[in-house]
Amino acid sequence: MKLKILVGTVTNTAEYVAQAIEMDCADLVDEIEVVMMDGLSIDAFAEDALYLLCTSTYGAGDVPDNAQALYASLDDAPRYLGHVRYGVIALGDAGSHGATFAFGGRKFDERLECLGARRIGDIFTHDASDGSVAEEVATAWCRAWLPTALAQMPA
Ligand SMILES: Cc1cc2nc3c(=O)[nH]c(=O)nc-3n(C[C@H](O)[C@H](O)[C@H](O)COP(=O)(O)O)c2cc1C
Repeated sequence: MKLKILVGTVTNTAEYVAQAIEMDCADLVDEIEVVMMDGLSIDAFAEDALYLLCTSTYGAGDVPDNAQALYASLDDAPRYLGHVRYGVIALGDAGSHGATFAFGGRKFDERLECLGARRIGDIFTHDASDGSVAEEVATAWCRAWLPTALAQMPA
């Protein structure tokens, strides 16, 4: 089974997180592919893979610019995604954006759930104001999450 990580970012933290997971979790899954969300559409979910949405938050609780097309596509070109199992890493900053903390990832989660996709596990959030290193805590979370998620993939 492939883990397909879809990355939404402005200043690359989410990309570094995805790359750290690609390196540190390679022993847990057959293949890991990191894909920037730029220009993607709902077709990105057509593959037989386990998905991990890894995205930051911008504006006032918006998805990053490079994630806008994919996010819009889930609304404009909706399709039943009952085969999709996914996790979410939602980056944000609770210190300066408490009211919209990690909304980028939460917004993707809401739309995917509406289309019948099933999230495995809780949304993992990283708060840029808490002093932790996103790559480290997200990789540790992913190492725990991956085996559970793989066990729940439809046969
Ligand atoms: C202009 C701006 C707006 C932001 N808006 C939010 C927000 O609404 N909610 C939130 O939780 N974080 C917000 N953030 C924080 C980023 O999501 C956070 O720093 C994240 O780690 C950046 O990840 P990236 O480098 O992958 O883009 C904002 C940051 C900037 C610079």
